[in-house]
Amino acid sequence: MRCAVLASMLIACGGGGAQAPAVGAGAAGQAAIGGAGGGGGGGAENPDPDPDLGADQLTLLRTLSPEELPGPPADASNAWADDPAAAAFGQKLFFDARFSGQLLDGDNDGSVNALGQKGDTGKVSCAGCHLPDDAFSDTRSIRQQISLASGWGLRRAPSLLDVGQSHLLMWDGRRDSFFSQAFGVLESEVEMNSSRLYAAQRVFENHRTEYEAIFGALPPLDDTERFPVLADVETGCRQLDRNSKCTGAMRGKPGDAAEFDGMAAADQDAVTRVWVNVGKSLGAYQRLLTCGRAPFDAWLSGDANAIDRAAQRGAGLFVGKAGCVSCHSGPYLSDEQFHNVGLQPKVVATVFIDADDPGASVGLAKAEADPLNVLGQYSDGDDGRLPAELGDAYLGAFRTPRLRCVAERPSFMHTGHVMSLEDVVDFFDRGGDHFGFPGTNELSPLDLNPRERADLVAFLKTLSGAGPDRVLLTPP
Ligand code: HEC
Ligand code: HEC
Repeated sequence: MRCAVLASMLIACGGGGAQAPAVGAGAAGQAAIGGAGGGGGGGAENPDPDPDLGADQLTLLRTLSPEELPGPPADASNAWADDPAAAAFGQKLFFDARFSGQLLDGDNDGSVNALGQKGDTGKVSCAGCHLPDDAFSDTRSIRQQISLASGWGLRRAPSLLDVGQSHLLMWDGRRDSFFSQAFGVLESEVEMNSSRLYAAQRVFENHRTEYEAIFGALPPLDDTERFPVLADVETGCRQLDRNSKCTGAMRGKPGDAAEFDGMAAADQDAVTRVWVNVGKSLGAYQRLLTCGRAPFDAWLSGDANAIDRAAQRGAGLFVGKAGCVSCHSGPYLSDEQFHNVGLQPKVVATVFIDADDPGASVGLAKAEADPLNVLGQYSDGDDGRLPAELGDAYLGAFRTPRLRCVAERPSFMHTGHVMSLEDVVDFFDRGGDHFGFPGTNELSPLDLNPRERADLVAFLKTLSGAGPDRVLLTPP
């Protein structure tokens, strides 16, 4: 919806008035090259022309940079979203690897690129793949594209800066709350490879006082008649098949036909609720992680030299000829919608290729069917974040990434195979790939010249702020 409105504004500004005041560098003299309209017939190439932004471009740029960046929108699913005690608890949990089961993949070789050796337990924390010093991206796994924990995942770990702005999480929207997202990590055979039963017992053992001060009494998890004990080597999965799927059932979670399924329904619910509350605490913490105001904002607020001329021209292209703002809109440069940009996956890490990823058409359907979703009994409220209908446009579509601090990421796109901002811009310039992805590509070629492509990259590099307060980057 928002996208369509912006698109029409773009058409409106595509007519290319050349008269508007240039922002930044003083004199308005020179003829514009490749400004908003993309018009103008060639002429001598000036390698460093004056930025020449029209009034319409400026208006659009201001929508990307309000005087104050808005905080995360209210989170109806989480009554503790803005509770400082919950956030402090969440910060502690973010760094706690003791919830995790065995590392299963043989690529866990004890090197700096792995979290331990195959067979080790208690090695995987959130911070193992979202490294606080690197914009909460994964700069640890080999080649910095996709993540190796218990096993290999197939998609790149997104930066968590400004993640509180998103209500539909993951590249494909398959999680609609922070608390349900935390179950995905815990109970994935390739991530923490563990279970809610094992994790609830670790909360009881290691975090009881803090948990109870926020959420009230824990269930009697030391009553082993009601809550069977799972050893660290038993939780989750014991062996992966060649496709990195568990060969048997994951023990300690629903469907295990063992410890979890054998518990009384009320005890199953009590165990689930412990990890729900852990997830709500993690959510409260993650809402504090921000990129912050950047040189781009300083420039729009009147500091003419805060960004160089190339970046100023790039800003004009971003909201003008290159049309990026039709999806990368608003103060965080994302419409928070799902789009198919026609991305053909390539080999990442050492051998992985994730072909035919259906993206949001399957992801959002999963969120809608998830008993842990925003409509379910563990949520504190619903704000209509799940789309009413899943049309064809969701096939092969992924959520528009936020772009603040984008230059701090080690690799790009959900596949992680694009390794530089130059390559990202080339990708959009050619209108995406022609085949090798499901659904219909929304992009068309942009016909940018080399200088324009470099200008866009220069602009993207001006979006990095100082990042979160340093006290948020280590365990409290
Ligand atoms: C094995 C590496 C790994 C670990 C460990 C991990 N993550 Fe992630 N995280 C990822 C990947 C990969 C994705 C994207 C997956 C996808 O979209 O399919 C992701 C996505 C997310 C997202 C969604 C971000 C967005 O923009 O939509 C959040 C939030 C998140 N992780 C938080 C956490 C928390 C909290 C923990 C600990 C409980 C954690 N992660 C542990 C790799 C990891
Ligand atoms: C049709 C909507 C759309 C348009 C137009 C668009 N983008 Fe994107 N952009 C996306 C989506 C969706 C992704 C993620 C795609 C994926 O991973 O499969 C993305 C990814 C990116 C990334 C990588 C971020 C990351 O964390 O991986 C950058 C950088 C980016 N876009 C910049 C731009 C620029 C610059 C333009 C204009 C030249 C542009 N985009 C135009 C939707 C769009």
